[in-house]
Amino acid sequence: MTSLYVQVEAACAAAFASVLDGSDPIVRTSDHADFQANGAMGIAKSLGRNPREVAQEAAEELAANPLFSSVEVAGPGFINLEVAPEAVLKGLEAMGTSETLGIETAATPKTVVIDYSSPNVAKEMHVGHLRSTVIGDALCRLFELTGNRVIRRNHVGDWGTPFGMLIEHLLDLGEKSAVSELGMGDLDGFYRQARAKFEASDAFKERSRQRVVLLQGGDEETLRLWRVLVAESIRYFDTVYRALDVGMQEADVRGESFYNDQLDTVVSDLEAKGLIQYSGGAACVFPPGFTNRDGEPLPVIVRKSDEGYGYAATDLAAIRDRIEVLGADLMLYVVGAPQAQHFEMIFSVAKMAGWLNEPVEAVHVSFGNVLGPDRKMFKTRSGETVKLKTLLDEGIERARAALAQRGERDDIDHVANQVAMGAIKYADLATDRQRDYVFDWDRMLAFEGNTGPYLQYAHARIRSIFRRVEDGTEPGAILLNEPQERALAMALLELPEVIASTIETYSPSKLCTYLFDLAQTFTTFYEFCPVLKADEVAIRASRLSLCELTASTLRLGLSALGIEAPEQM
Ligand code: ARG
Repeated sequence: MTSLYVQVEAACAAAFASVLDGSDPIVRTSDHADFQANGAMGIAKSLGRNPREVAQEAAEELAANPLFSSVEVAGPGFINLEVAPEAVLKGLEAMGTSETLGIETAATPKTVVIDYSSPNVAKEMHVGHLRSTVIGDALCRLFELTGNRVIRRNHVGDWGTPFGMLIEHLLDLGEKSAVSELGMGDLDGFYRQARAKFEASDAFKERSRQRVVLLQGGDEETLRLWRVLVAESIRYFDTVYRALDVGMQEADVRGESFYNDQLDTVVSDLEAKGLIQYSGGAACVFPPGFTNRDGEPLPVIVRKSDEGYGYAATDLAAIRDRIEVLGADLMLYVVGAPQAQHFEMIFSVAKMAGWLNEPVEAVHVSFGNVLGPDRKMFKTRSGETVKLKTLLDEGIERARAALAQRGERDDIDHVANQVAMGAIKYADLATDRQRDYVFDWDRMLAFEGNTGPYLQYAHARIRSIFRRVEDGTEPGAILLNEPQERALAMALLELPEVIASTIETYSPSKLCTYLFDLAQTFTTFYEFCPVLKADEVAIRASRLSLCELTASTLRLGLSALGIEAPEQM
């Protein structure tokens, strides 16, 4: 069944179409009514008519539609719409029997390639990678929920000149102890030691340089050592993914090196299309519209003057591969805001090359910084990158302490884990992704306010109602007599539209806001409308159904964000 919002929008579109064909009805949910259609003002303007008259004309047609119980023109030409009780009940019934609670699955599924997490080998994942991981995973789940084919891509930074020094350092340490150091997840320590030697010793610098040449030349032993570094790093990243319970798997890794043997044809392809210009020996493409501070055109450097390839070349190969080999309809790059220009330029070049054509789309899903309590970049007290695994473990400890305060339980380990990950993910997802957010344990772990634990608790509290049913009452036919019941019903029916707009804008925060509002609407309902203590069995059954739909909606919404909903908290 089509969602209530879609039905309302279609009715309004038809009504306004009789005034002006193809006009936008501009339907919104509203505080003054269930919905408001605001299309009259725009139509009046383009027809040179009075907006109230236009609204009146459309309203007459809407009033004849059984979908509405009340249609009123207000102000300069708003149309306030109340949905008829039968339509609300029908919507709830359809929601209750739908596996996805009425969320529609794509008629033509898209292949969506989502590039996220993408940390760098032999370097700690920083909180920026955490954000990418959390937002990217939520987007994967949302696209899957709506019936699309999702391909995850972990564009790990696993190639480049630093590997010369990293391999030499590995040899100095001895392979065994190097592996055990990396295996402990001390990626940054390893990197720093290598860097320090590189800076202090000319001999080491020279060895490193020669090692890069061997690596690029495909020397077997060098490649083997390089693979050790990559494998150990990926093993560590995987512990973070498993702890976070995200869908990224080892099989989704396509590091930068994966594209090595495609780089020559990237250049020749661009060259054949006449797009390459040489600048100081480097092969460049100059996409129009990009200039530096002095107004000079900015290049995408495809091949450096020393014949080497860099970050841009790899991303060009990757986008071509995703379109031509994976058959992507949509490509998302969940990467921090500082790389905005890089992606704009890559997308431009891909279009110039004729690889990226409508309707195929590439989108940089950018995000702001994670800040410490001091509102500066989130770092340890000594100014180092926070080790993600340690951070997650700290979250679990804190969640365990918070839960212990609420009473003893056998499953505290399991639930502490669910609460901690829920708190961390939700804090990240609930703020508009473009904005910076402050990493604050106390706030994210609070059981009050717009937090993960609050929503998990709201869900568990509803589930507990079902455990307290004593007279065998089962959820039954819904009756909407009280305004709080109706308000809850309308909130539930908004889910499909919220999911659609969350996906359309790649903004999980929209879904968060909805779930938080829903939990609050439920609280008001629960205060005014006794469930188990209602006198009539029919009312108890009806309210149990509303409880059940609310719990299912919270559970599904949280799961779309990658957050578990424990039965008991
Ligand atoms: N490894 C990069 C970094 O840490 C992120 C890669 C993002 N993905 C991409 N296709 N460029 O900044």
